[in-house]
Amino acid sequence: MKVLIIGNGGREHAITWKVSQSPQVDAIYVAPGNAGTALEAKTQNVAIDVGDIPMLIQFVKDSAIDLTIIGPEAPLAAGIVDQFQQQGLAIFGPTQQAASLESSKAFCKDFMQKYDIPTATYQTFNDAAKAKAYLQQHNFPVVLKADGLAAGKGVIIAKSLEQANKTIDDMMSNRLFGKAGDSVVIEEFLKGEEASYIVMVDGENILPFASSQDHKARDNGDKGPNTGGMGAYSPAPVVTPELEQKILETVITPVIKGMKAEGHPYTGFLYAGLMISPSQEINVLEFNCRLGDPETQPLMMRLQSDLVTLCQQALARKLKQTNIEWDARTALGVVASADGYPFSYPKGDVINGLEEAIPQGKVFFAGIEKQQDQYVTSGGRVLCTCVLAENAAKAQKNVYQALNKVHFNGIYYRTDIGHRAIERETVRG
Ligand code: AMP
Ligand code: GLY
Repeated sequence: MKVLIIGNGGREHAITWKVSQSPQVDAIYVAPGNAGTALEAKTQNVAIDVGDIPMLIQFVKDSAIDLTIIGPEAPLAAGIVDQFQQQGLAIFGPTQQAASLESSKAFCKDFMQKYDIPTATYQTFNDAAKAKAYLQQHNFPVVLKADGLAAGKGVIIAKSLEQANKTIDDMMSNRLFGKAGDSVVIEEFLKGEEASYIVMVDGENILPFASSQDHKARDNGDKGPNTGGMGAYSPAPVVTPELEQKILETVITPVIKGMKAEGHPYTGFLYAGLMISPSQEINVLEFNCRLGDPETQPLMMRLQSDLVTLCQQALARKLKQTNIEWDARTALGVVASADGYPFSYPKGDVINGLEEAIPQGKVFFAGIEKQQDQYVTSGGRVLCTCVLAENAAKAQKNVYQALNKVHFNGIYYRTDIGHRAIERETVRG
């Protein structure tokens, strides 16, 4: 069979790598892909933008693609699944309405309130003056979220009234995030440890993935500005079997039932970003209607089942009778980024040492382009090096050995990815 994968990041390289191992797949196309996807067996990149839905549909028809898998949120929010379905084309992902769980924070919060899913208390505002009046009586820190998609930059944790008011001005009056900031959710600040819980859904049934955790902050010790994610690992020891049960009962199941009741049954990957308090209370920070980046990279290294079969089972609404198997070891991935990320950064720096790093783990490419015979940087997150090892401590040691071989001007990475998992291993002995 032939598979199309949409996207061009590290997540999509990991999906491509996994799909290329499926014996039932003869050819993989990635639109637009990156220099790493082009290296995988049976795979070629096609120069179609993720947002060009008519061209993607034309390509799928012309090339007789049997299954399309989507990486990023933007095409989902634009209704790619609805449009493929109208043409009778097989695609795994949520419809535009179902993807509102990610594409509108206000919708998501109202939905959680309606279906009694635990989340921080909040209010939504369309008017800057009213938002500021509300902030007057709020405790600090407070969390301000632009309603719409803002490439992971639309959440600000304000430590003071002054900073919160400035954020309202930036979002609502100066329209820093365009129309995404016309509505703003103001919510209570939650303390605890974050975890990512990802499942596959077929409209009705849920197939849980292994737990994972990413490090969103740029610097060691989880400090510095928020990024798309600087590294991730799976499993996340904070998610104990008891907690997992609680997540399924109090979060995932009510979401799937609720979306069905709303007339928008959910099919696709569903990612719950959770805050786990010291007393094991769960609160939902956000939902994503796709796989996480970089969580996907370690998850794909651990996944032993055939990802294509899983997607087919989901489209046939058979997830209830589907098993999923994971390597028992820990997978850990570290992102190397360009100097300046998540703000402005240079491009076009030559990358050396990939051939030495690759045998020691798996290097998933993100912002990398091939120019003549050289690999050069072309994005903020450049690559994510991943390894599998018997525990998080060993995985961390090995991943940095591999990453040490890679060089480019201004290369930056955190040196403590997995620290929470390692602390727990030490405590448990
Ligand atoms: P979101 O896109 O909603 O997940 O927010 C991005 C990041 O902001 C999260 O991963 C958290 O680190 C942080 N965050 C979001 N909401 C809250 C909250 N209510 N309390 C504390 N931190 C939050
Ligand atoms: N790693 C966070 C995300 O994919 O949104």
